[in-house]
Amino acid sequence: MRIVVVGGTGLIGKALVQALREHGHETVPASPSTGVDTLTGAGVAETLAGAQVVVDVTNSPSFEDGPVLDFFTRSTTTLLAAEREAGVGHHVALSIVGTDRLPDSGYLRAKVAQEELITGSGIPFTILRATQFFEFLGAIADSATESGTVTLPEGAFQPVAAADVVATLAELATGAPVGGTIDLAGPDRRTMEDFVRETLAAREDPRTVTTGPAARYFGTAIDHALVPAGEARLGAVRFEDWLKG
Ligand SMILES: NC(=O)c1ccc[n+]([C@@H]2O[C@H](COP(=O)([O-])OP(=O)(O)OC[C@H]3O[C@@H](n4cnc5c(N)ncnc54)[C@H](OP(=O)(O)O)[C@@H]3O)[C@@H](O)[C@H]2O)c1
Repeated sequence: MRIVVVGGTGLIGKALVQALREHGHETVPASPSTGVDTLTGAGVAETLAGAQVVVDVTNSPSFEDGPVLDFFTRSTTTLLAAEREAGVGHHVALSIVGTDRLPDSGYLRAKVAQEELITGSGIPFTILRATQFFEFLGAIADSATESGTVTLPEGAFQPVAAADVVATLAELATGAPVGGTIDLAGPDRRTMEDFVRETLAAREDPRTVTTGPAARYFGTAIDHALVPAGEARLGAVRFEDWLKG
């Protein structure tokens, strides 16, 4: 099976390309650094020729409200049009748990726009919504740091290892289209404060970690919206083991 991984040079994409190749699939990474740009359309049609499956794990270079919405809208529109032309039979995309429950977040509004383009495209699809990656905890800490103190929102948090996201995407990309969304979370549900404090401690980072009702996640009040509301798959990698690795 020929599978194109758009964003195949990123954190998730690179590992996914490797996993799919190990399973014997002809797998092509596509991104600006391989000459494929979903914003300009450069190289897209050529790369998709003969592909049965396209996995979209791109990310926007900017997380600002306007640019991120423009990125996911334009990139997804370009990809879906090229897939229709090439007769691709399965579009798989990586989204985020809770996207539709946090309309105050510009980034998540952009992910909702991406999902709506996919579900309305007529192309058989599968959307995997993952929680935040363990690998993203450092960036969360940095975004919430002021004068050496990290202040995080209250509420449940259930991050997942990138390795589990990759394994799930590899399984979904080689299976039949689901025609809906699947949630994936980590095996443990605790507070964001807990996960970030332990991450920083393991790195001997001296920042203090605290929490408060007014604290925001990238500018957004999260309540409990970042954890699955219903049925979800759970990753296998425990946070403690990931920290030790
Ligand atoms: N971070 C989290 O905790 C989290 C949780 C759930 C879901 N997600 C989702 O996971 C996805 C992947 O995240 P990631 O951390 O793996 O991303 P990443 O490491 O930042 O990689 C982004 C990829 O997108 C490619 N890209 C950027 N602009 C492009 C363009 N114009 N055309 C084609 N490709 C382009 C990059 O290519 P180059 O290397 O060539 O620049 C790179 O391969 C995102 O959609 C994100 O919303 C993230």
